[in-house]
Amino acid sequence: MLLVINATTNDSMTNDKSCLLKNFKCNMSVNKEIKKITTNTLLKMKATGEKISMITAYDYSFSRLFDNAGIDIILVGDSASNVMAGHETTLPITLDQMIYHASSVVRGIDRCLVVVDLPFGSYQGNSKEALSSTIRIMKETGAHAIKLEGGEEVLESVKRIINSGIPVMGHLGLTPQSIYKFGTYTVRAKEEAEAEKLKKDALLLEEAGCFAVVLEKIPASLAQQVSVSLNIPTIGIGAGKYCDGQVLVMHDMLGINTEFKPRFLRQYLNLHEQVTTAVQHYISDVKSNNFPNESEQY
Ligand code: KIV
Repeated sequence: MLLVINATTNDSMTNDKSCLLKNFKCNMSVNKEIKKITTNTLLKMKATGEKISMITAYDYSFSRLFDNAGIDIILVGDSASNVMAGHETTLPITLDQMIYHASSVVRGIDRCLVVVDLPFGSYQGNSKEALSSTIRIMKETGAHAIKLEGGEEVLESVKRIINSGIPVMGHLGLTPQSIYKFGTYTVRAKEEAEAEKLKKDALLLEEAGCFAVVLEKIPASLAQQVSVSLNIPTIGIGAGKYCDGQVLVMHDMLGINTEFKPRFLRQYLNLHEQVTTAVQHYISDVKSNNFPNESEQY
């Protein structure tokens, strides 16, 4: 018996292997065909006004959770440099490290689109370098698309990657790989000149063939203008409600980080407190010889 679930659009890719959910995932004794999110799905979502949900993930267990929860896109962000490796910026993470995170994420998903950040230093040199970094990601992780930061200055690379058949997501506004150029993480494009450049860059990225563009930390009114001017979806983070979708870093929205509380962040859980309490209970049970008890041993 084949049962179709999550049928939001008609353009899904189906193949025998990836579209047969394992019974333990379905919790039923039938095979289920699932609709995969593709770049075309996202375009249709924009056209029909359905908002796009995106979240970061860096490992198998969380990507599996998020995919089963119904997320549209998982971004293997270079924010892994911050939240997984503890670096102050996104600059230190390497291509090999991004490939490790991305391949773990891909093993956890059945349905959503997986986008991987090209890390700092893997594409800025020239478009050939950008393409060979991208090809490594695609070959070694099984991800579906890449993201890179910048507009006009990376256009040649964007075109080269897309010409080779690989979908590209753009990223404008606050681009953390340029933090030492900006000097701060404050809101970008408040001034007219920067706002104009951003609008032009967004159009250039669309013309070059990008399937979506992230808008990070810019005024909501500017994000609205960009979203209206583009046929491809905008995915906002700190860019207000008029974007076609939203993205948050999982550690921020789940409340694992306590130090990072920007205005744009909605925290959906307080995992910091919950994990601390759980681990304290465990420590206390071990110390008091309350764990394991009779039924927890062989
Ligand atoms: O690396 C990342 O997590 C990102 C998001 C903030 C968009 O690029």
